[in-house]
Amino acid sequence: MTEAPKHLLIVDDEAALRGAIAERLVDHGFVVEQAASGEEALERLAAFAFDVLITDLRLPGIDGRQVLDAAVERYPDLIAIVITGFGTVKDAVEAIKQGASDFITKPFQFDALMHVLGSAMEQRRLRTENAYLRSQLEQRYRFDGIIGRSAPMRELFQLLETVAATSSTVLITGETGTGKELAARAIHHNSPRRNNRFVALNCSAIPETLLEAELFGHVRGAFTGAVANRQGRLEQAHRGTLFLDEVGTMSPGLQVKLLRVLQEREFERVGDSHTVKIDVRVLAATHSDLSRMVAEGTFREDLFYRLNVIPVQLPPLRDRREDIPLLVQHFLERLGTEAGRPPVTVSQEALRRLMAYPWPGNVRQLENAVERALAFSKGRAQLEITDLAPEIQNQPAAAESLDPWFPDEGIDFDRYVEAVELSLIRRSLERTQGNKRQAARLLNLKRTTLIEKLKRLESPPPPKA
Ligand SMILES: Nc1ncnc2c1ncn2[C@@H]1O[C@H](COP(=O)(O)OP(=O)(O)OP(=O)(O)O)[C@@H](O)[C@H]1O
Ligand SMILES: [Mg+2]
Repeated sequence: MTEAPKHLLIVDDEAALRGAIAERLVDHGFVVEQAASGEEALERLAAFAFDVLITDLRLPGIDGRQVLDAAVERYPDLIAIVITGFGTVKDAVEAIKQGASDFITKPFQFDALMHVLGSAMEQRRLRTENAYLRSQLEQRYRFDGIIGRSAPMRELFQLLETVAATSSTVLITGETGTGKELAARAIHHNSPRRNNRFVALNCSAIPETLLEAELFGHVRGAFTGAVANRQGRLEQAHRGTLFLDEVGTMSPGLQVKLLRVLQEREFERVGDSHTVKIDVRVLAATHSDLSRMVAEGTFREDLFYRLNVIPVQLPPLRDRREDIPLLVQHFLERLGTEAGRPPVTVSQEALRRLMAYPWPGNVRQLENAVERALAFSKGRAQLEITDLAPEIQNQPAAAESLDPWFPDEGIDFDRYVEAVELSLIRRSLERTQGNKRQAARLLNLKRTTLIEKLKRLESPPPPKA
């Protein structure tokens, strides 16, 4: 593929020099326009998006610096080369600060100009290519706002893409904060129904007695307070998607009615005998183990099978720690931009702690942790370990527990040892289901020592003076 010719504007008040350069640039395949003054240059720049600007800094009237200013402001991707007088290095430096790609000092050979121009263009090409690669990477590691690069997440993206194309009912399961709602929205937005509504109903957030009317709607007088006819969420989602969140909390009576909707795609509003036909795709989510609820008799088996046509499981964050750096980056960008802050990064040490923490609240908890750290960082350009919540700070990074990481500047010995103590105590308590006497025995400690240590370790460290 041959590249399109580059459009170049050369600005110089010395007509002979300008003309000579222009001619040779044309020989090199550029499409060249000339301007004899700053005023003329501004006019041309306003009218046309040049790829390259070559301008003398010293011009009568509007000078080269103003031309440069106008050009880089309007076209951030423009390559600008300035021509400076002999012995005016300061001007050149200023011009570079102002956004020029490079400079060349008068008098110069044409070949020298070509060399400067060639390397500026090469640099620009690499930069664009890098930006392209980065955007590619970003594309690969996200699916409609869901971030992840770990194997389970990449499998999930594929599954979501496949599922989105169908109209099948999907049951999304996962611990709290793993992104169930995000996944549901992603399915809808990538489905043929995307131009119709996505209606969400959280079954656990609405009192049992109101849930039925909320789902199916009601007619006037159906119950006390039903002063008018009202559409339910099902009807609102017609031709679109209905997302039933926390579906495991539905009462047995409502489970029967939902089953009918899934089987017959019809229902009646509360207090009405008229049957409404509906075209809706149902996505359901739950953090509870529905198959166990079926075994225990608290969830209908037939409804479970109707919902679980395609199961989508969101893995807990602790099982995909390699996603944490990318997620942290993502939240920093989003929250930082919202707060109007320049780009914030995270220190490697803080990142290690974030990757070691078990995240019982999963991605939502991580998002909150980043927000907190950002607030504590008070405008610094990098998040440090001390910006993290105490329970995350105290999490010894996984690889450190046996082979302590020892930085050149040394380590806070007491704090480190305390973190190890806390981690061991926690583990033994987990193993003994919280029984302190047994936990103490596992650690070869007196029970009172364990309790005393626990109390001391779990209280937040005193604020620094
Ligand atoms: N993989 C991810 N990439 C980016 N953001 C995510 C990801 N997973 C979750 N989040 C974010 O975490 C928060 C929680 O996600 P969401 O509400 O979808 O979780 P959930 O599983 O529905 O939680 P709950 O069970 O508590 O309702 C949201 O702010 C969401 O944007
Ligand atoms: Mg949710």
